[in-house]
Amino acid sequence: MSLNSGSGVNNSSHHNELIPEKKVFAVASGKGGTGKSTFAINFSVSLAAMGHDVILVDADLGGADISNLLSIRAPRYTMKDFMSGDVTYLAEILENTPCPRLRLILGGSDIISISNPLYQQKMRLIRNISQLEADYIVVDLGPDISFNNLDFFNSAPVGFLITQNVDTIIMGFYRFLKAAFVRRLKQEFKNDTFILNIINDFQNRGWARSRRNLIGSIRAASQESVDKLDLVLDTFQPKLVFNRISTSAAKKTADQMFSFVLENFGFRLQTVGFLPDDKEVEKAYARSEPYVLSYPKGDTTKAFFDVLQASGLNKTKDGEVVSSFSHYSKLLRMEANNWQLLKI
Ligand SMILES: Nc1ncnc2c1ncn2[C@@H]1O[C@H](COP(=O)(O)OP(=O)(O)O)[C@@H](O)[C@H]1O
Ligand SMILES: [Mg+2]
Repeated sequence: MSLNSGSGVNNSSHHNELIPEKKVFAVASGKGGTGKSTFAINFSVSLAAMGHDVILVDADLGGADISNLLSIRAPRYTMKDFMSGDVTYLAEILENTPCPRLRLILGGSDIISISNPLYQQKMRLIRNISQLEADYIVVDLGPDISFNNLDFFNSAPVGFLITQNVDTIIMGFYRFLKAAFVRRLKQEFKNDTFILNIINDFQNRGWARSRRNLIGSIRAASQESVDKLDLVLDTFQPKLVFNRISTSAAKKTADQMFSFVLENFGFRLQTVGFLPDDKEVEKAYARSEPYVLSYPKGDTTKAFFDVLQASGLNKTKDGEVVSSFSHYSKLLRMEANNWQLLKI
């Protein structure tokens, strides 16, 4: 169940080790209102401004909002048409944006029947997302810790988790991370009852109680389980983004989270950036504009560039490294013309 369709999709003449092969990004958090959609939109727009063909998928099946956030008033099709079977392929419902390199798969708002798709519908959606033709596909997920969200998240080769330096939101992050990690492990060890018991034990115990070492126990079982575990640890590498920060305290929290995750889950959590709490972001959001285009020199746009850099994604389609903020900012200003954000 992988969204990484791998070979043949990226233009091989452009391919070199500078261009990441992983092309599907999931954006999740475990809580609503943390800034997932804002991140997904500005991330997609940034990749498009650097010359990539991008498809942004609104997979928040219960509360889709990308169409509102980008002022798409009357979409021809939404995810509902695909989930209901009225259209066969997801590629048929692509919606254009003012940017020729950015296209959308829009969700349908509050459609109960699609917010709880059957297993087959979910697999069909995951398969169709992986078959979309683009350099990058960005999947904006819902806030809940449902199997749907976990499976969408785990099927993407790269996952971004958007958090804030707020206890309840960090708890939501840990719950999501634990649930996604457990689901991924169970899938890998689905035929091994001994290891499944170890995973269940990890799943059921609280954070504070003294722990049996999950990773150590799995490693001690057999060479086969070591190999499977290493595969999971290699492919389960979410990137953490702190949003709406106002002090440097978030950096300390990020260090604590790194230690906690390493100790409890056995992998190194990568924090790729800290986005400020910014009035300009809210203003752009209220006007349904991507803030990186409205404020190409803004503080949060600068912080966004740091996220791209830390993720190894500051590259044009030709593989040229966008090494300075001023270069990125210039590409955004050129892109802003397509959107006619400079109001006449
Ligand atoms: N960096 C930020 N600074 C200020 N406000 C922000 C920032 N990021 C997001 N917001 C605000 O938070 C709210 C929720 O954002 P949204 O992206 O819709 O969250 P989600 O998709 O996680 O539910 C919006 O009002 C948005 O303007
Ligand atoms: Mg959202």
